[in-house]
Amino acid sequence: MTVLDLFAGAGGAALGLHSAGFEHVACVERDASAAATLRAAGFPAVEADVRDVDYTALAGTVDVLWASPPCQAWSSANQHDGPKGADDIARNGWPWTLRIVGIVRPRWAIFENVKNARRYVERAVLPELRKLYAHVSLWVLNAADHGAPQSRTRIFVIAGPRPVTPPIGTARRTMRDAIGIAYDRPSPCVMTNEGKGRPTDPAWWRKLNNASDALSIATDGARRKLTLAECATLQTFPEGYPFAGRPEERYRQVGNAVPPSLAAAVARAVRAAEEGLGTIREGLSSIGTSGDRIERLLSAAVGVLRRRPPRGIDPDDIDGFVARNVGQLRAMVGDSLSRRTA
Ligand SMILES: C[S@@+](CC[C@H](N)C(=O)[O-])C[C@H]1O[C@@H](n2cnc3c(N)ncnc32)[C@H](O)[C@@H]1O
Repeated sequence: MTVLDLFAGAGGAALGLHSAGFEHVACVERDASAAATLRAAGFPAVEADVRDVDYTALAGTVDVLWASPPCQAWSSANQHDGPKGADDIARNGWPWTLRIVGIVRPRWAIFENVKNARRYVERAVLPELRKLYAHVSLWVLNAADHGAPQSRTRIFVIAGPRPVTPPIGTARRTMRDAIGIAYDRPSPCVMTNEGKGRPTDPAWWRKLNNASDALSIATDGARRKLTLAECATLQTFPEGYPFAGRPEERYRQVGNAVPPSLAAAVARAVRAAEEGLGTIREGLSSIGTSGDRIERLLSAAVGVLRRRPPRGIDPDDIDGFVARNVGQLRAMVGDSLSRRTA
């Protein structure tokens, strides 16, 4: 599956998508140092403002458009003052993101954002997506439940032709497991303002870690700033990931990123929904049925499974069930088609 990644940063989401088997056609990012990181990591970076890119050549060709729109309007630094100046892309990247979705018309649209943006998204974004997609969901996921040793709660919006089952959480890892600092919980959220202030200033340390008890966590008793490598590990970047730029630029890229492990969990969920049904669709075309009829019959069949999951089938795993039972479903839909034709 192909991806257009908007506001791609240093490639946290891109790495997750890549590990779930997605292939990038472009990663659009206007910050020069983040774009340099993307290039060094092997992603097709387009160093530009998302508003200045001509997307018409991609229309109808992209499987997934992933975007993490800027969200200053809801960040704690701006006291959650909402989307004033809603067309100012730095404060609120959603209107532009929706415009680009309208041009590219991806099969799936996946968006990530801070949780404070939820009410705005429910009011202003989901209704627009429902005009374009049959299934639109909003998930609230904590990276700590999806492989990251860090508590970081974000909203995800998934819009596409099929319902998607949210990823199932995995066991939590602690800060001690990940970077050896004596703190037996996932770390507080890794933030972007690491380059500022003095590392020994308690207020700075609290800000860095977003927790009052963080003052005591340094192994040697000294209050110190987490190293870039430590922050990158808490965000689940692989060791040696080639962050480019000055130290404060690299810290910003790490703090801004979607943890790759979380992006991968979301990407795998979308892929499961797509592939289970894609395999069946292929099978059906091989027995000579036309695209539209297949879509309708498959939706009906999966709809029935969702409403009345067969005994012994996990209702949260219908897509997995569909994927594993391609043969039977194919026979079932084929049989129903031939009876109708007869
Ligand atoms: C929250 S970060 C994205 C993180 C990224 N998805 C990741 O996983 O690493 C938002 C990014 O959008 C970029 N950005 C903001 N406004 C932009 C614009 N108008 N055009 C292109 N990039 C922009 C910022 O430089 C920043 O890197």
